[in-house]
Amino acid sequence: MNQMTPASRLEIIPANAPFSDSQRSWLNGFLVGLLSLDGSAPLVPGENVGVLAPAGEVDDGEAPWHDQTMPISDRMKLAEGRPLRRRMMAAMAQQDCGQCGYNCNDYSDAIANRTEARLNLCIPGGKETARMLKALHEELAKTPVTSPSPSFTPAEAMPAITAAPGRSRDNPITATFLSRRLLNKNGSEKETWHIDFDLSGCGLDYVVGDSFGIFARNEIGLVDQIIAMLGASHTVEVRGKTLRDVLISDVSLAPAPDSLFELLSFITGGAQRERARALAQGEDPDGDAATTDVMAALQKFTGVRPHPEAFVEALEPLQPRLYSISSSHNAAPGKLSLTVDCVRYVVGKRKRLGLASTFLAERIDPGDEVRVYVQKSHSFALPKDPKTPIIMIGPGTGIAPFRAFLLDRKATGAPGKNWLFFGHQRSEYDFFYSDELNAMKTSGLLTRMSLAWSRDGDKKFYVQDRMREVGRELWSWLAEGANVYVCGDAKRMAKDVERALVDIVAQFGARSTDEAVLFVGELKKQGRFQQDVY
Ligand SMILES: Cc1cc2nc3c(=O)[nH]c(=O)nc-3n(C[C@H](O)[C@H](O)[C@H](O)COP(=O)(O)OP(=O)(O)OC[C@H]3O[C@@H](n4cnc5c(N)ncnc54)[C@H](O)[C@@H]3O)c2cc1C
Ligand SMILES: NC(=O)c1ccc[n+]([C@@H]2O[C@H](COP(=O)([O-])OP(=O)(O)OC[C@H]3O[C@@H](n4cnc5c(N)ncnc54)[C@H](OP(=O)(O)O)[C@@H]3O)[C@@H](O)[C@H]2O)c1
Repeated sequence: MNQMTPASRLEIIPANAPFSDSQRSWLNGFLVGLLSLDGSAPLVPGENVGVLAPAGEVDDGEAPWHDQTMPISDRMKLAEGRPLRRRMMAAMAQQDCGQCGYNCNDYSDAIANRTEARLNLCIPGGKETARMLKALHEELAKTPVTSPSPSFTPAEAMPAITAAPGRSRDNPITATFLSRRLLNKNGSEKETWHIDFDLSGCGLDYVVGDSFGIFARNEIGLVDQIIAMLGASHTVEVRGKTLRDVLISDVSLAPAPDSLFELLSFITGGAQRERARALAQGEDPDGDAATTDVMAALQKFTGVRPHPEAFVEALEPLQPRLYSISSSHNAAPGKLSLTVDCVRYVVGKRKRLGLASTFLAERIDPGDEVRVYVQKSHSFALPKDPKTPIIMIGPGTGIAPFRAFLLDRKATGAPGKNWLFFGHQRSEYDFFYSDELNAMKTSGLLTRMSLAWSRDGDKKFYVQDRMREVGRELWSWLAEGANVYVCGDAKRMAKDVERALVDIVAQFGARSTDEAVLFVGELKKQGRFQQDVY
């Protein structure tokens, strides 16, 4: 199948590049592996091949590890004895967040079926997932190619390289940044922005429930510090661009990848080399692996100066970030809004910036063009019947798609009842879109609005606490056929809200806890309980 030249023969680094023979040979091998040129997992679009479960392995289609709150070690344990593609799925972060361009199941199937060569697309899984996938992928390389796996559907699983412009992370388009407005009032501990884009130039549209993918750019100050640490010039050419441009737009400067430590281990010696090797293998000799970004990695090896070309190749590509769209195309054609919480934190003495959130908050100006795409939602949408009541639970930025739902229902005159649960830290500072929401309440569009402020009182009070207080009415909406939607934090909030819903079903729907769990599970299967969590 693979017509590639053997890896050892491929020469990527030219003979006149400034490396010794052994360095050149190592770098050639490194780049061949990185780019999968050794044929271990070539991207062969359209080729329908797969990995069947070898004898003794069970593939019952169930995925008991599909829980975004479960640690990877537990997920992998549950997947033991399952075929490779199922173990690959267990390695994913289980959020079905769409950032990789698939859901967890389809991404793992695509890798196992050798139609997707990229192992680093699971952003919430981070380095843990990437490492586990790499190990499983080595197993894949030894597995004979057989017939398609049972659940494989190429049309769904293929990365949408050929998708229309602006419809996939692999084919972004440019949209115009219009404006930003801070949603928190002075005194808040949060920094959340309402962001507007103009889509009229690019012609993109969307439906409520979809997300917007943003290709951000790294901050110039950080880029210049890294260039200084490399002892390089801004203008040195790499990949046909200046080093500075490549570091700004093409590579991730956040978590230091194992491949960067591999490179550092090669160009240093003695104890330094051992330390770099340990770091490359996922060990944590300094106890700070979780916060070691590219700059911090270079600081650990001060004076070791990788060649710019090798350095750039050792970094991960810059990944886009998704944001739930908070506007309705039906209400404002050609416009698109987001609701973005700004990620800023300090490690040691250095301020760290979330890539895309701070890009949207401060590194673009009105009129600037940004590379974007619409990520279609496959399981987060308004009910088909506009009369169906909806219950929306979205604390913090979780409000985003619900603002969109409400604006859409208003624009289309949908008669269904609407109930919003919103919450945040403090009522005085963090009541996003309060004028708009209060007006919707007054007009009757918003049938009910239930609020929960976690830091107004002495004790934390969350949306699920409010849900429990009004459990009887919530149950009667459910019994009337309402859909339930949850958006926001995946790790804690979503799970706690689901637990509250189970308790409400048990108490007011007169069911045992087990029956209530089944009831909520059934709601999910029927598409009546939908989540957009991250
Ligand atoms: C489908 C979907 C919809 C989304 N919708 C929204 C939305 O509507 N609004 C929104 O704001 N976000 C949304 N997100 C999240 C968004 O995609 C980004 O993940 C978020 O904005 C952070 O991205 P960033 O590039 O700014 O930060 P990154 O550069 O990705 O940095 C974030 C990382 O920094 C680290 N970090 C953060 N805080 C700390 C800390 N205190 N200490 C140590 N490390 C820390 C963590 O490792 C974290 O993963 C959504 C995500 C998905 C998948
Ligand atoms: N990595 C981090 O340290 C970090 C920190 C904050 C947010 N985030 C992430 O950033 C994203 C955006 O955050 P956001 O601005 O939308 O707001 P958020 O931080 O998710 O907070 C929104 C509201 O939810 C409350 N909350 C906290 N835990 C909860 C739980 N278990 N159940 C219900 N409500 C809970 C918060 O209260 P309290 O804060 O008062 O408890 C706050 O009132 C989310 O994905 C979030 O996970 C990450």
